[in-house]
Amino acid sequence: ATQVAPVEKDCSSITPPYPALLRNLEHVRKVLQRPLTLAEKILYSHLIDPEKNLSGAGKIRGEVYLQLRPERVAMQDASAQMALLQFMSAGLAQSAVPASIHCDHLIQAVEGAESDLKRSIVTNQEVFDFLESAARKYGIEFWRPGSGIIHQIVLENYAAPGMLMLGTDSHTPNAGGLGMLAIGVGGADAVDAMTGTPWELKAPQVVGVRLTGQLNGWATPKDLILHLAGKLTVRGGTGRVLEYFGPGVFSQSCTGLATIANMGAEVGATTSTFPYTPNMRAYLNATGRSPVARAADEAASRGFLNADENAEYDEVIDINLSELEPTINGPFTPDLATPLSKFGEFIESQGWKDEVSAALIGSCTNSSYEDMTSVADLAQQAKRAGLTTKVPFLCTPGSEQIRATMERDNVTSTLQDVGAVVLANACGPCIGQWKREEKKDEENAILTSFNRNFKSRNDGNRLTMNFLASPTVVTAMAFSGKLSFNPMSDSLTLPSGEPFKFSPPSGQDLPSAGFALGETSYYPSPSPKPHPEVDIVVKKDSQRLELLEPFPSPFGEASGNNRDLELPPLKVLLRVRGKCTTDHISAAGPWLKYKGHLTNISENLLITAVNDEGGDVNVAFDRDTNTSGTIPEIAKRFKSRKQPWALVVDDNYGEGSAREHAALQPRFYGCAMILARSFARIHETNLKKQGVLPLWFVDKSDYSRISSGDVLETIGLTDTLQGISDAPIKVKVTKSNGETFEIQTKHTMSTDQLQWLRAGSALNHIRLSLN
Ligand code: F3S
Repeated sequence: ATQVAPVEKDCSSITPPYPALLRNLEHVRKVLQRPLTLAEKILYSHLIDPEKNLSGAGKIRGEVYLQLRPERVAMQDASAQMALLQFMSAGLAQSAVPASIHCDHLIQAVEGAESDLKRSIVTNQEVFDFLESAARKYGIEFWRPGSGIIHQIVLENYAAPGMLMLGTDSHTPNAGGLGMLAIGVGGADAVDAMTGTPWELKAPQVVGVRLTGQLNGWATPKDLILHLAGKLTVRGGTGRVLEYFGPGVFSQSCTGLATIANMGAEVGATTSTFPYTPNMRAYLNATGRSPVARAADEAASRGFLNADENAEYDEVIDINLSELEPTINGPFTPDLATPLSKFGEFIESQGWKDEVSAALIGSCTNSSYEDMTSVADLAQQAKRAGLTTKVPFLCTPGSEQIRATMERDNVTSTLQDVGAVVLANACGPCIGQWKREEKKDEENAILTSFNRNFKSRNDGNRLTMNFLASPTVVTAMAFSGKLSFNPMSDSLTLPSGEPFKFSPPSGQDLPSAGFALGETSYYPSPSPKPHPEVDIVVKKDSQRLELLEPFPSPFGEASGNNRDLELPPLKVLLRVRGKCTTDHISAAGPWLKYKGHLTNISENLLITAVNDEGGDVNVAFDRDTNTSGTIPEIAKRFKSRKQPWALVVDDNYGEGSAREHAALQPRFYGCAMILARSFARIHETNLKKQGVLPLWFVDKSDYSRISSGDVLETIGLTDTLQGISDAPIKVKVTKSNGETFEIQTKHTMSTDQLQWLRAGSALNHIRLSLN
């Protein structure tokens, strides 16, 4: 018989410490003396020392750096590798907070769930073994390949109202569907939480999104976020939390809210959240977490899980759900939103072929029971009429629990009857792990219910136009095969010549017979204990994994206050021109497989960056030998000469993501300082963590005065590091012709961060403070 999820499981390790959070919140209220938004309540109640952090600070949001203690960390298999390698080099016996690892990104979709899973386990065995042994050693929950996608599993098992969680993946905010703050970070930030180091975040602004009215017909929560992405654009949420409120929140299922929160990432939001609702309580109960629901009820009755009356938002956006129509976003950017009724015209105006080449549903964004039963309703209607899908129709269940429940409740067979192929419970086509044989190098259009649609994202083909839509719209399109099809108004023609029109889909929020557990061998044992005796498996000749050597301090071993703490003379490797994102610094794609091998992945350092001296991509000059080479080649040459070096970069250097490899790799090759017109904040923090000194030009025009081969020397860093002065740090520039001059710079380093620099990295500092 199919095993059903327990009615009530042991929730001691997953219930937020509400009494302590409420006590902290009282301190916050005393200091701030004003109504608080929900996002503020959750964030500030996780402050390590609210009085110290907030007192006398004036404006908080957008200004103050918060020192926080997150409650949990979740890591996916690609990013977990470097996070764990870093954690290992901190020398701790166990993680300071509960943590989990999820094997989902490394599973490639080729022909279907069973064989894809088997093959991917073989191809990635070494990485999975490493992750599993690290999990055992440090007491981390290990979700085996096949268990599902990180965000779905977190929602089903760990998320709880009012919690603060970090995840090493940008769609971590998905867990906001349960009324919490879940934030996507790089591995180095996860390591902060796992080592008990304060995790720092600039207090985000809070945008209030007021929902009124009621979704109807074909409109779904996905359409709400697709519509909002069109309004806010891909940058509109940067440095901000989207906090939804109003009656429209309460009519959504918990999993529908998760979809909305998931795609807040597409507008760059720090995260998204919602007040605690009865549907969240029902979801907690249905997933065996009634103890969490009861504790959340109690916390809500004490005013914790919603915004205070009269709380002020930095901006309020009003959305009337009754007016919302299905929306399709893309291609190539998630903020190009077109209402379904206008989509046919849009396609025609662009001169694109009116053809869908594949339809994909599921993923972490849209594979809830509600999504799958709605889609099955359409499939049932079509089947009754004698229709099957016209194009490949792929379905990715978000978790083993969803997969098993779909199978038990005949959702899977209904989909298969009309032509669906069910893929493994993993990321697959959503992250480009899709071995697609058709349409190679050919312009074509796919529809997905996923969340991202940058070029090449799904099948590696830059010419594949990827449109994002709700699972039901994607499914209806699969039966038509035409982009111009509007299931709300158009009919399909049956083989008999009769017209067929879909009725609006209807799904079921939660399974009446409970969630089926499925293959329990994929699951971890709850709250595992650390096993210090476990050896972590990293082969010496591995091409996928490499243990990290601590970076040496640039000031040598000895410490003491009277020492000269200036950086050694640094040679300028390169002046980078214009936009330089973390993708330029450390490219993804085929490099994904080297995420756990710093030497191998460093071969991609800055390979798409533009050298401002000459304007070429991936070219650097070695002025000592009057030769040139690729950027990694020259960086390696400097490293082999033991020549520490610096970069000169433009505005907003390191924008894009929290990818820590973008800081680790230059540091690995010997970069000690980066002089920028300005930095993207997360990347700047990552540089500080890895012991690279980020300095800002006081006069931005100094950027052009420095060239490759120049020698830079800091003046005044000693006083800064010894806390004697916070005067600007000067840099002496010696040109190759012997000419010298000084420039002024500024820095944003806190006292703690100065200690990281002094120790050579944040991890070195943690290790030193443990001994
Ligand atoms: Fe990310 Fe998609 Fe997986 S958004 S977590 S790649 S399913």
